[in-house]
Amino acid sequence: MKEWYEKIDSAASLEQIEEIRIAVFGKKGILAAEFAKMKQIPNEEKAAFAKELNEHKQKLNEALGMKKEELALKALEEAMKAEAIDVTLYSPKSASGALHPVMQTMDRIVEYFVSMNFSVQTGGMVEDDFHNFEALNLPKYHPARDMQDTFYFKDEMLLRTHTSPVQIRTMRSTTPPIRMIAPGAVFRRDYDLTHTPMFHQVEGLLVDKEGKVSFANLKFILEDFLKYMFGEVDVRFRPSFFPFTEPSAEVDISCVFCKGEGCRVCSHTGWLEVLGCGIVDPNVFEAVGYKNVSGYAFGLGVERFAMLIHRIGDLRSLFEGDMKLLEQFA
Ligand code: PHE
Repeated sequence: MKEWYEKIDSAASLEQIEEIRIAVFGKKGILAAEFAKMKQIPNEEKAAFAKELNEHKQKLNEALGMKKEELALKALEEAMKAEAIDVTLYSPKSASGALHPVMQTMDRIVEYFVSMNFSVQTGGMVEDDFHNFEALNLPKYHPARDMQDTFYFKDEMLLRTHTSPVQIRTMRSTTPPIRMIAPGAVFRRDYDLTHTPMFHQVEGLLVDKEGKVSFANLKFILEDFLKYMFGEVDVRFRPSFFPFTEPSAEVDISCVFCKGEGCRVCSHTGWLEVLGCGIVDPNVFEAVGYKNVSGYAFGLGVERFAMLIHRIGDLRSLFEGDMKLLEQFA
């Protein structure tokens, strides 16, 4: 019997364990052969013989079970080692995509205003004359319509020329106070170094009770926002005109290329125009049926921000699908 314990102990594989099990416990195995000897054993020794044999049977079974478990664990460990994948291995083929620089810039702009508790509103790109112009204090034949060369469809429908119609839609469907931005694509018939027929804007609108919103509030948030986007720049407000705001201003930052010294990009003025803003014109509130409120609004072109942040000279290059350019933003 002893030799079988040693055999179990030195078994090196699950196959060997199975062989031993058959040799010990099988129909023609050694245990069966031992039990067969009972017949020849004198009656008074039978009980002791059987007891010893049964003890061996139990112990061999236990030894076999334990060894089997041990070998199975070892086999599993070996398999895991052999099949392991080194995820840190360098793969020359892996290429990763990235957000378009204009979308990266848009995300950053949105991130700022969301952190200032503005909600994000969207609207359709196909608009009607009322929301794009009329309600924004731009009646038909108003000369200021020329500021935005428009793509028209039939029946007074058009491609929105700015994201301002979203402020009209939001005001008409909710009640003040309102703190919103409207990011999105807009369309104008324009094509040169700094204009493409499709570009992106972020419009901002804040409306609260009459007398609560001042130009100082507008100035504060835009200055803070521009420093968030461009770092330490000087910010300048210049009186301007928009039909939907009164008073209106255009906002300049000190030129990021020459730090205000004067260069080709800023036409030697030291300043770059980056957005338009103003106090919401009472005619706009009237068009949406708001009474006793005050508010400010602003609008900016995302591509212009992206060009200034990344120092891109030609706006059109952003839309040519040029991988050499785009890969730099991955
Ligand atoms: N909608 C204006 C434009 O596209 C920008 C703007 C928005 C100006 C809100 C003032 C206030 O030119």
